[in-house]
Amino acid sequence: MAPTASLDVVKALHAHAAMLPTLQTLFEREPARALRDCLSLGALTVDFSKQRLSAESYALLERYAQSQSLSEKIAAMFAGEVINCSEQRQVLHGLLRTPVQQVPAELAAIRAQMQTEFDKMQAICAAIHGGRAVELGLVQPKTIVNIGIGGSDLGPRLVVDALSHHRVNGIEVRFITNVDAHHTQALLDSLDPDQTVFVIVSKSFSTQETKLNAELARAWIASHYRYRCLEPQYGRHFITVSSNVEAARSFGINPELVLGMSEAVGGRYSLWSSVGLSIALAVGWNNFSALLQGAHVADQNYQHAEPAENVAMRLAFVEYFNRCMLGHATRCVVPYDDRLGKLAEFLQQLEMESNGKGVSGEGAELAGETIPVVWGGVGTNVQHAFFQAIHQGTQLVPMDFIGVKKPNHAHSELHQVLLANMLAQSAALLAGKNYAQAFAETKVSDSVLRESIARQRVFSGNRPSTTFLMEELTPEALGVLLAMLENKTHALSVLWNVNAFDQWGVELGKVLANELLPAVKGLQDAARFDASTQNLIRVLRA
Ligand code: F6P
Repeated sequence: MAPTASLDVVKALHAHAAMLPTLQTLFEREPARALRDCLSLGALTVDFSKQRLSAESYALLERYAQSQSLSEKIAAMFAGEVINCSEQRQVLHGLLRTPVQQVPAELAAIRAQMQTEFDKMQAICAAIHGGRAVELGLVQPKTIVNIGIGGSDLGPRLVVDALSHHRVNGIEVRFITNVDAHHTQALLDSLDPDQTVFVIVSKSFSTQETKLNAELARAWIASHYRYRCLEPQYGRHFITVSSNVEAARSFGINPELVLGMSEAVGGRYSLWSSVGLSIALAVGWNNFSALLQGAHVADQNYQHAEPAENVAMRLAFVEYFNRCMLGHATRCVVPYDDRLGKLAEFLQQLEMESNGKGVSGEGAELAGETIPVVWGGVGTNVQHAFFQAIHQGTQLVPMDFIGVKKPNHAHSELHQVLLANMLAQSAALLAGKNYAQAFAETKVSDSVLRESIARQRVFSGNRPSTTFLMEELTPEALGVLLAMLENKTHALSVLWNVNAFDQWGVELGKVLANELLPAVKGLQDAARFDASTQNLIRVLRA
């Protein structure tokens, strides 16, 4: 469709949204929506019916997606076209989870390279889990410490936590991320160097935080050896993962323990690659493979399903409509499972680093809004923190609720309470409570006071949510969920016409941090900076 056609659909969407009835009315008018707007993908059920969109909304959004060539752009990504134009790169995280026999001929060589890294990962897992780490020249670890940040931390950390019930051989995986030595030093102090292996993960191998933490870990290992009057044997304690293999090698370890990754796999999409080594070490190679298989199920759905059955597309339609047509500025993600406690943080990077842009992939200023602020926390905890505002605050916040049907513990009664709470929240957000109900419930004799209190006890309802239900928190189900959310992020980037795979917005702060460091150290003044920054430096130095 021509750009004017796309503008026409956007106008039609705005007009439609302005006339759209409340969610409560939509449920009266469309009794079939509870089933119609509830899709399955592998062991995952996604219920969009409590989102304020009608059958007509979806029809218009499908037209808009066509005008943006969504299907063609999905095909282009999986075919390995250079869609990350500002960095002139292909986008190949999907290839990591494509079974070898299904790889298109033109991508076979790259997939073979990926397989080489998978084979190395598998060999490392086999040796460590088999108690034969010495064959790799490593100490036999009780603890693996992943040192990395952003995509080199959040995906592995989320998955290691989520699959904690699949831990292999009691191996513990810990994470060092921030350049905050309070945490790093406290963690190192709690570890035994003779049983610790560090996995340094950095796609670029130039990230300041990761380099400094890696050096701290090296110094810790060195002091351990020197204390025993021995030359440090770093090779026994370090594995590195990077697409900058030369820089990783210069860290001075056994080259066999340097794992590569493709430049065409973005950091925030990289948990499926050798960046996921700490996942495989935590839960075993078979579970890591099952995670990839689950992701492939989501990719198949994204590439081949019609829009009505395409879960990632539907999620993208909902988000686009909420943001651009209904004006919702944030989205809140609440898993009712502590093991998914890192999900909101993971999605913050995935979605906000991908689509937090105000200029199109062709460099044109965008007219409308893009990514909402993504935030969240674990239910039920957050019910006792910010849910007051979610139910009665002046800003409507679309919610994502995530629940797991079958727990991996024996306390089914507690689990039922957890799930009942989750369902209660979305039901309350939809239906609300009207004034008549609130008035009847308010038992105060003074009529003025009674009316005043009753008004404060009204819930507007009409507050949208999506509910994700997993059968069980298995590696496959998690793979489906995470890949589906990655695909949704891509679909949204197409609807917004931004490049989801670069991140220029994080560069300026990095450069300025380096420029400010001499001033913070007191070696230089900060005259080139604004008055406030100069004043803060003065306070810091005083
Ligand atoms: O914060 C920007 C960023 O480049 C992310 O995109 C990336 O995941 C993170 O830094 C870490 O980068 P690297 O893996 O190269 O150390």
